[in-house]
Amino acid sequence: MDFDEKYRRYAQTVNAALEKIMAGEAGAEAVGRAMAYSLLAGGKRVRPVIVLACCEALSGDMELALKYACAIEMVHTYSLIHDDLPCMDNDALRRGRPTNHVVHGEALALLAGDGLLNLAAEYISGAAPRDAEKDIRAVSRLFGGSGVLGMIGGQADDIYAEAHGADKELVERIHHRKTGALIRAAGELGAIAAGAGPDAFDGYTTHLGLAFQIRDDILDVEGSAEQLGKSNSDAANNKATFVSVYGLDEAKRRLERETAAALAALEPLGEGGRFLRGLAGYLLSRSN
Ligand code: IPE
Ligand code: IPE
Ligand code: MG
Ligand code: MG
Ligand code: MG
Repeated sequence: MDFDEKYRRYAQTVNAALEKIMAGEAGAEAVGRAMAYSLLAGGKRVRPVIVLACCEALSGDMELALKYACAIEMVHTYSLIHDDLPCMDNDALRRGRPTNHVVHGEALALLAGDGLLNLAAEYISGAAPRDAEKDIRAVSRLFGGSGVLGMIGGQADDIYAEAHGADKELVERIHHRKTGALIRAAGELGAIAAGAGPDAFDGYTTHLGLAFQIRDDILDVEGSAEQLGKSNSDAANNKATFVSVYGLDEAKRRLERETAAALAALEPLGEGGRFLRGLAGYLLSRSN
């Protein structure tokens, strides 16, 4: 099976599982509808695909990996809803739709984000299949990655840098935390589902996560809102990005280097790393 077909299958599996979850009781609440509005709006599903692919590369338990994959997409979607709020990036377009707060109002958008974060924890600890020991490790890695020393800390620094500026060191730290930490958690969840040490993919996901945000920064400059399905507002918001700190050309060179480093980290996996290699190539040149 080629890369595109495999990616499509992974993403479809995740989409079907998320639709089923949101068709449950919570989906009937007003806040549940606001959660579903963003969760089922068709993002790329990169983080859940990483969970599934890392687990499969180690011949692990794919049912358990799917549970973790759904949970990380809930956390990621909550972060997008909050990232778009007027008090953060104040954006009006996301995943090809008006942002959550534009449609549902700020209060419900805030709660929809809270609801998705909460649901991720409920889902890992409560849904089948259950594996108490692995589930606890998964909770620890997922919420560690999205926490104050990871994504939330990175988002706080991102907002600080709007007002105070950032040097090269700070922008790197922002990117490793606001985006890299959750991508690293995705590899960890796949490894945990496979019964491996959680750090099995750390070299790969650390470089991939930084590359992912550098590409995001470049697309914000080079892409249109229509192409991206989201507002491109970095310059207007005075964001500290790889483009603002290094310039477009150097940002592109750094993206190449980080991708090469991610690929090099996969070498020990041999043929088992084929899809993950394809993923690094896709993320290097993605257009949305
Ligand atoms: C956007 O993430 C936010 C960043 C961390 C750059 P994605 O580019 O993965 O967004 P979706 O999930 O495809 O919408
Ligand atoms: C967002 O970074 C990172 C998180 C949501 C944690 P950006 O603010 O650059 O993401 P986009 O460009 O709005 O998707
Ligand atoms: Mg932001
Ligand atoms: Mg943003
Ligand atoms: Mg961006």
